Amino acid sequence: MSSTTDRIDIWVDCDPGIDDAVMLACVAASSDRLQLHGVSSVAGNLPSDVVTKNVLRLADFLGLPQVPLARGAVRPLVRPAQDAAAVHGAMGLGEVVLPVSTRALEPEPAVVAMQRAIAALPEGRRMTLVPTGPLTNIALLLRVYPQVADRIDRIVLMGGSTVGGNVTPYAEFNVWGDPEAAAMVLGSGLPIVMCGLDVTLKCGLTREQLRGLLEDENPRRAMLGRMLSFYTPVDAEWRYGVCVIHDAATILYLTNPELFSGVTCDIEVDCGDGRRGETRVVPGGDVLRLNDVDMAGFQEALLGQLARL
Ligand code: RIB
Ligand code: CA
Repeated sequence: MSSTTDRIDIWVDCDPGIDDAVMLACVAASSDRLQLHGVSSVAGNLPSDVVTKNVLRLADFLGLPQVPLARGAVRPLVRPAQDAAAVHGAMGLGEVVLPVSTRALEPEPAVVAMQRAIAALPEGRRMTLVPTGPLTNIALLLRVYPQVADRIDRIVLMGGSTVGGNVTPYAEFNVWGDPEAAAMVLGSGLPIVMCGLDVTLKCGLTREQLRGLLEDENPRRAMLGRMLSFYTPVDAEWRYGVCVIHDAATILYLTNPELFSGVTCDIEVDCGDGRRGETRVVPGGDVLRLNDVDMAGFQEALLGQLARL
């Protein structure tokens, strides 16, 4: 068992959502490399009540450590919430209904719980934030508690694209969902690793590997296989012959960074209405935009982590 000093301290902010569920499974399987300090929900794939219930139930189902679980923003900063129920199903996990959770939500909202966890880190340690939904909670954290920036090591986010969108021709869903929040986070000056469609379209499993999960005797892996079998990526997301599991790229980047490559830049976010949510490269160096991955290595590492569930 690794000591806590050499593990990466993380807080996950998500909108489960099927690929968020696989991402959380990777967190559960990587406790030797990652120290989870909390999980928060954000309205995105589904409304807040659904994603928050899924955070609670996935924490039990996957055996996540007993850490704070908190409800975050119930809608974007400015715009109305628009969900992706067509992709993830009305209850967010395809046709899977997990058992009622034994876990309780924190009484405070996500920004308070996140700030408290970051402030409680031992001297010299800093938090890696891992948002895999719209960036509403992260933007609010930075505005409500600006001093927390000194204790944030990196933000490893799933979002954005410079290769076209998946919710419009220009925009990736998480950034499109709350472009104002994305602009605030990507423009914060904090070190950011952007796992956008540039790389996540290559991060997935083949149909045969999905079938293997579905037929697995392990109930957790079989359930993830059922979720993924429902997951209806748009045609464009089969571009590289794999069922993309966007959000898992954030965790695999943390556990296996050698699989990925990217370029540093800054990113501007279009907050207009014509090309809402488009993310464009501009000169700068705060953002590591991942643009390639060893696809076979990703699959081996992901399946290796799921094998530890
Ligand atoms: O565009 C893909 C992203 O949008 C993923 O995080 C998926 O879960 C949805 O939130
Ligand atoms: Ca997500």
